[in-house]
Amino acid sequence: MPFQNLAFDVHDRVATIRVNRPDKLNALNDETIAELDDAIALVERRDDIAGVLLTGAGAKAFVAGADIAELSKQGPTDGRARARRGQAVFSRIERCPKPVIAALNGFALGGGCELAMACHIRIASDTAKMGQPELKLGITPGYGGTQRLARLVGKGRALQLLLTADLIDAAEAYRIGLVNKVVPAADLLAEAERMLRQIIAFGPVAVALCIEAVNRGADVPLGAGLEVEASYFGLLSATEDMHEGMTAFLEKRPARFAGR
Ligand code: COA
Repeated sequence: MPFQNLAFDVHDRVATIRVNRPDKLNALNDETIAELDDAIALVERRDDIAGVLLTGAGAKAFVAGADIAELSKQGPTDGRARARRGQAVFSRIERCPKPVIAALNGFALGGGCELAMACHIRIASDTAKMGQPELKLGITPGYGGTQRLARLVGKGRALQLLLTADLIDAAEAYRIGLVNKVVPAADLLAEAERMLRQIIAFGPVAVALCIEAVNRGADVPLGAGLEVEASYFGLLSATEDMHEGMTAFLEKRPARFAGR
């Protein structure tokens, strides 16, 4: 599928999706949001893809936000529709059964921070800067920022970032739990790929149900989340992968998961 605003490559079971509008610091216009949806649909569908690295083109930005040139023209009705479309695409990324790691190679602001938060894991270059500066534009975040930020870093820290519109560096993002790891810029993609390959070496059914259990548990009371966990735990006992994983442990050899 040809993309205008993304680069999409697959190498040895890893899809690399690069938001590719470097002259606009990879700002997300409507077309790019639609292409992200198509790209994730492709990832879901293709059996030769086990996981995703999501990053930005160029050395300066992961994604510097939603495209302000487009936002500046919106009225209340299309503004709401735009937020809903963006939210739906980011939720699709969050629910992707294959692991998605964001490699933050620079500015991850506004919609870029929101996109990163929808990914399962975030690794930042030491040059990355993050924030939700929407209040400076007279708006609030519209692609999940008011919700996912508070869930990730807690209400107090989320409100501080949202209300001050301050940008924070990678070290501070790590300190507050907004990113999982910070690495030198030169090592970013290699480290993100190393972590992704560690995950995709496991059984894909167990990986998918693990992501799903965490996602479903985030929105329900603890008891309901524990029910989800128990059923997936039971379900996985029917897989060849569970048999292989446990047999390999008992035989003191590496497991070879078949994905069944
Ligand atoms: N939407 C549209 N265009 C954007 C953009 C965005 N979110 N972020 C950057 N760009 C464009 C700039 O308009 C500029 O385009 P031009 O060369 O045609 O004028 C180009 O990308 C380079 O950006 P520039 O501002 O010149 O780079 P900088 O290094 O001086 O500043 C930032 C970098 C990230 C601090 C600055 O671009 C910025 O504040 N961007 C907006 C961040 C934001 O508010 N995001 C939330 C949006 S909801």
